[in-house]
Amino acid sequence: MKGFVLVLGCLIAIQNAQGWRNFNRGRSKGGNLGLPAGDAVRGSESEKVTTEWFTQYLDHFNPNDGRTWKQRYYVNDQYTSKRRDVAFLMIGGEGEASIEWMTKGAWINYAKKFNAICFQLEHRYYGKSHPTSDLSTKNLQYLTSQQALADLAFFIDEMNKKHELSKNVKWIAFGGSYPGSLAAWARQKYPHLVYGAMSASGPLLAKVNFSEYFTVVYDDLKDTGGDKCLSAVKQAFYQVDLLTRHMVGQRNLDKLFFLCDSIAGGGSNHDDISNLMDSLSGRFADVAQYNKDNRFSKIPNNITLDTLCDIMVNEKLGPEVNRLAAVNSLMMKRYNQTCLDYKYDKMVSDMKNVSWESEVSEGGRQWYYQTCTEFGFYQTTDAKPQIFGDENGVDFYVKQCTDVFGPEFNLTTVERGVERSNILYGALDIQVSNVIFVHGSYDPWHVLGITRSNKPLSPAIYIDCKFNSHSQHLIPKIK
Ligand SMILES: *[C@@H]1O[C@H](CO)[C@@H](O)[C@H](O)[C@H]1NC(C)=O
Ligand SMILES: *[C@@H]1O[C@H](CO)[C@@H](O)[C@H](O)[C@H]1NC(C)=O
Ligand SMILES: *[C@@H]1O[C@H](CO)[C@@H](O)[C@H](O)[C@H]1NC(C)=O
Ligand SMILES: *[C@@H]1O[C@H](CO)[C@@H](O)[C@H](O)[C@H]1NC(C)=O
Ligand SMILES: *[C@@H]1O[C@H](CO)[C@@H](O)[C@H](O)[C@H]1NC(C)=O
Repeated sequence: MKGFVLVLGCLIAIQNAQGWRNFNRGRSKGGNLGLPAGDAVRGSESEKVTTEWFTQYLDHFNPNDGRTWKQRYYVNDQYTSKRRDVAFLMIGGEGEASIEWMTKGAWINYAKKFNAICFQLEHRYYGKSHPTSDLSTKNLQYLTSQQALADLAFFIDEMNKKHELSKNVKWIAFGGSYPGSLAAWARQKYPHLVYGAMSASGPLLAKVNFSEYFTVVYDDLKDTGGDKCLSAVKQAFYQVDLLTRHMVGQRNLDKLFFLCDSIAGGGSNHDDISNLMDSLSGRFADVAQYNKDNRFSKIPNNITLDTLCDIMVNEKLGPEVNRLAAVNSLMMKRYNQTCLDYKYDKMVSDMKNVSWESEVSEGGRQWYYQTCTEFGFYQTTDAKPQIFGDENGVDFYVKQCTDVFGPEFNLTTVERGVERSNILYGALDIQVSNVIFVHGSYDPWHVLGITRSNKPLSPAIYIDCKFNSHSQHLIPKIK
């Protein structure tokens, strides 16, 4: 068929520089949601998507502060009926908003069915939505989920007028991962504006010590490759730890893992080693979080936990550490990385760059700020049993808050911020109606979300991947 256009959106801007770690504290480069599955969209459909800019207040909670900025959004108005009484809002998250979502994904199927006008609003401080001149810590004070939710409220109010939507228009919010939480909170905080929400994989409980994350990765690996896979991974991390302790071992690590900076060259400190361990465990976390999702058959997403376990138990590859190196190489190839960065000071110095032009302005600095001030979510290796070493405690992650943003970002303030979020939103005791919560059991984030509900107006769908792993279709079991 003629006329097919591949919508690539602004992806090109997110090029991988060498060494950038693709999986940072459970946040994938570009944000956790990623791009929708599906075929290229017909030209005529994608052509009807427009990019617009909304004048938004900088500080919604200070009426004396009239400063404004331009927030990017996308509109798709081709499925609407004359009644104009249904509006869908895809909530942007901790990465650049993607125009691809405007013509693809399940929500577009629903939009066609319900004749909805579709909007996607980019989250403040991500992508091209720049509320301040730079990303200085002082300027980041306006980066909060409360401000982002108020952005949604002002946006909805304006769109109702601008697009002449019906007085009885019903707005439905959609979001996956952090925006999944925002979708539920938008309904909770602004029920007069948001009629309902689809909250996918949203962590509603903020937590500093998110040790359960790697417990789920552990369970996923066990389910996939059994005890053999688990013990190989455990042994590999143990061997890495041993090798860091002497010169010959360090030389081996340099070569095996294509380290950007030599460990054997000296000058590596404890934080560097913790960071290296974090990158290596991140290889498994990265795959676990998206294991066999509906995009997985697409290259380069064809790497699954089966792939990793197959490598880890393959004795032909040599000792376990060599197998871990093979896993690392596979993932480096997937992300076009030429070397593995692990230097703590280098990472901190990158994250301290406050320029919108810098590579971390892709979202790494902003999301880390939100973890330090609102959510924690630090994926520690504190839980038992533990196969990824024991290098990464709460202290390691909170130290980064201090080193990147300043001394007032310390354990006390991080804990206070997390508690504050749970009080303001209600964590897992959230009281909402017309919200559906969806989670998958392999995704470690499900631990912080609602996976079962006895409230008919806020049901939960928990997809048991274990149960479904041998069938072609995922059959949601409503609990
Ligand atoms: C993924 O696809 C690439 C390209 O076709 C192929 O070389 C590779 O073997 C595949 N990997 C797996 C694990 O299937
Ligand atoms: C890696 O490079 C290839 C070829 O240049 C490109 O098609 C692909 O999108 C890149 N992958 C990533 C994850 O950047
Ligand atoms: C921040 O990043 C930009 C763009 O990469 C770069 O030009 C600038 O030198 C960096 N600033 C510092 C202080 O490193
Ligand atoms: C983090 O949580 C684990 C339990 O999952 C606990 O064993 C550990 O002591 C906690 N760490 C801190 C620093 O509180
Ligand atoms: C953390 O920062 C706050 C605010 O600057 C300060 O009051 C507190 O003493 C600090 N706590 C620690 C343990 O350093």
